[in-house]
Amino acid sequence: MVNLNIPIKGRKGFYVRMKFLHSNNKHGRPKDINNKRNSQFFYRSFKWFVWFFISFYLFISFPPFKNTNDSQSPPSPLSGSGSGSVSASVVQHNRLDESSETYSEVLNHVKIFVYELPDKYNKDWVNERCSKHLFASEVAIHRALLESDVRTFDPNEADFFFVPVYVSCNFSTVNGFPAIGHARSLISSAVNLISSAYPFWNRSRGADHIFVASHDFGACFHTMENVAIEDGIMEGLRGSIILQTFGVKYKHPCQAAGNVVVPPYIPPESVRKTAERWALDGRRDIFAFFRGKMEVNPKNVSGRYYSKAVRTHIWRKYNNDRRFYLKRHRFAGYQSEIARSVFCLCPLGWAPWSPRLVESVALGCVPVIIADGIKLPFDDVVPWAEISLTVAEHDVAKLGSILDHVAKTNLTVIQRNLWDPEVRRALLFNDQIEKGDATWNVIRALAKKKHHSLAHRKSRVSVQ
Ligand SMILES: *[C@@H]1O[C@H](CO)[C@@H](O)[C@H](O)[C@H]1NC(C)=O
Ligand SMILES: *[C@@H]1O[C@H](CO)[C@@H](O)[C@H](O)[C@H]1NC(C)=O
Ligand SMILES: *[C@@H]1O[C@H](CO)[C@@H](O)[C@H](O)[C@H]1NC(C)=O
Ligand SMILES: *[C@@H]1O[C@H](CO)[C@@H](O)[C@H](O)[C@H]1NC(C)=O
Repeated sequence: MVNLNIPIKGRKGFYVRMKFLHSNNKHGRPKDINNKRNSQFFYRSFKWFVWFFISFYLFISFPPFKNTNDSQSPPSPLSGSGSGSVSASVVQHNRLDESSETYSEVLNHVKIFVYELPDKYNKDWVNERCSKHLFASEVAIHRALLESDVRTFDPNEADFFFVPVYVSCNFSTVNGFPAIGHARSLISSAVNLISSAYPFWNRSRGADHIFVASHDFGACFHTMENVAIEDGIMEGLRGSIILQTFGVKYKHPCQAAGNVVVPPYIPPESVRKTAERWALDGRRDIFAFFRGKMEVNPKNVSGRYYSKAVRTHIWRKYNNDRRFYLKRHRFAGYQSEIARSVFCLCPLGWAPWSPRLVESVALGCVPVIIADGIKLPFDDVVPWAEISLTVAEHDVAKLGSILDHVAKTNLTVIQRNLWDPEVRRALLFNDQIEKGDATWNVIRALAKKKHHSLAHRKSRVSVQ
């Protein structure tokens, strides 16, 4: 990673940080993590904007710069590693010419102010597990924003305000799942704090404020749907923007606020490691795979059954079918099983979404989505219909024949679409934003909302 601080004369505090993502290590992960973290990208007026582009143009036309860049360009990244390598494509797509343009198109047009809340709202909760488990996007997005070019330290020029409250870090000693009973009070307390200390919340009634709600029923902050629906979205958040893993295509009280459906968190380094060992187009000796909770006799929990008993049906019908590899217990080599499978079942749990969506895509196993009405993450950029299969919940009994049919007809087309590196990158949150990754897609989605909110807000200072 190369960071250039280009001073702009005459105005203290105005400098530009251009970050050219490229990689010279073979995993495509940025090497330089000790860069100047506090550097920021500021411009307030069109004048400066134009000035910058002219300067930038002159700057890149200047031969020594080009040479510097060329000398750091990695040699043919694809050599040796085969098409199974995620890293190769990262290198390819972050070349200077392309990335600088896209940075200006997407990242440079959004400015986010990140509130610095007392540690009891976030850092105090963090532990090793909570920054890596499936709900960890609340930590990952915050971390990526803090170091990104979209962050502004001047709230007066911000388009959005990020409120970093971590609620999924307190694991229950009983069942091992996060206990989120304190979520509402913790968030209310944070809202009280920022609304009294700053004018920005009151100005928009929180409409330009962003929260992450990364567990089962998103902005309702509950794990059981009936309770979640009953409680609804807490008063204070109804006008805000919620980044949530929960999403359905029909009307639902838990997505009644402005929202962006985000993928569940899977540590990118873990899937990259697995992908290095198992080529995408290598041998896939498992036809259909699922590992996870499958109750043989599902319990009636306040009138509801886990997975609407879909997983039970799958287990009962296909447990003895040789095409299906179904396992009910945890296993450390779980990701390699995905990498060895053609189809990976992604049935609903309590909520429709599942971390398997991300794991399957990242490891090139065709996701078989069984969750009626699910709204998938970033569905405006990820071509879900071309990279996955959707099976209706009431059709699980026909799963075997459906998958057989696809294997005989269009499987190779689906795999070719799925193995596109851009698709596989889109669902992973990196520590530092990479072009096209999950945080990038969050910002892109916010950029779309910006135009909407601008039209409704008089007080906005936009590009003049
Ligand atoms: C955190 O979880 C523990 C164990 O489940 C629970 O006793 C405690 O009340 C929780 N803390 C908060 C603030 O909710
Ligand atoms: C915002 O509104 C609340 C409630 O009306 C009020 O208590 C608070 O002082 C206001 N904040 C500012 C910064 O004026
Ligand atoms: C499940 O439990 C609820 C009460 O919690 C009850 O009303 C309902 O009849 C039960 N359903 C079945 C199929 O037993
Ligand atoms: C593949 O075939 C299945 C079943 O016929 C169909 O539902 C699906 O849309 C097809 N997918 C693609 C990408 O052609």
